[in-house]
Amino acid sequence: MTGDRKFFVGGNWKMNGTKAEIAVIAKFMKTGPLSPNTEVVVGCPQCYLGYSREHLPANVGVAAQNCYKAAKGAFTGEVSPGMIKDLGCEWVILGHSERRNVFGESDQLISEKIGFALSEGLKVIPCFGEQLAERESGRTKEVVFAQLSAMKPNITDWSKVVLAYEPVWAIGTGLTASPAQAQEVHAQLRQWLRDNVSEEVANSTRIIYGGSVTAGTCKELASQPDIDGFLVGGASLKPEFVAIINAQQ
Ligand code: PGA
Repeated sequence: MTGDRKFFVGGNWKMNGTKAEIAVIAKFMKTGPLSPNTEVVVGCPQCYLGYSREHLPANVGVAAQNCYKAAKGAFTGEVSPGMIKDLGCEWVILGHSERRNVFGESDQLISEKIGFALSEGLKVIPCFGEQLAERESGRTKEVVFAQLSAMKPNITDWSKVVLAYEPVWAIGTGLTASPAQAQEVHAQLRQWLRDNVSEEVANSTRIIYGGSVTAGTCKELASQPDIDGFLVGGASLKPEFVAIINAQQ
């Protein structure tokens, strides 16, 4: 990464963790040490948001992994941004590929959720990325630009947004994008911000990479000029998460 964007590492526990397991994670995160030059946020299962907030170190932010686009009402099974804030959490991950591909969330719904979460005062990590067939047919740029274009009308404050580029073929597969592959897309995304939002937003917005990031792959990825951090799934449940947080040192 270059410039004065603060390095950002998010964990995404997905549907993993018990109270006992979260206590173990909290312990290795407390032991760290975590670089003060990295902003750290972990995405916890909704039912453990409060527990995680209480047990994780205060300098680690806590994110929900989803939320709905309304404050309250007859939406069985959903949680609102206000509920997340009420538990002391400041962040939400939205549009993760599993929300898109397992639960059928559309670009439009994700965009509306981003807009509502921002308006309620949450900071948002919107996720997007191409599928393998899209990459193989040379459509990566077209796909990610369309995903960003769908979000843009609802992003009212870019300073509250960290974009997570996660190629679907790299998530949970062990097939990390190469530093060159990831850097190529990140540079295109930053150019998209320059062309469609502003030079200032392009320079200041963190664009993080996700997809099989490990302690072994993080350092070289972090050295790329447009990679400003990571969203980490499997490895965020293990002590090696500390090494990923410190990838930039
Ligand atoms: P992974 O998941 O690191 O296990 O590939 C990344 C993510 O889904 O955010």
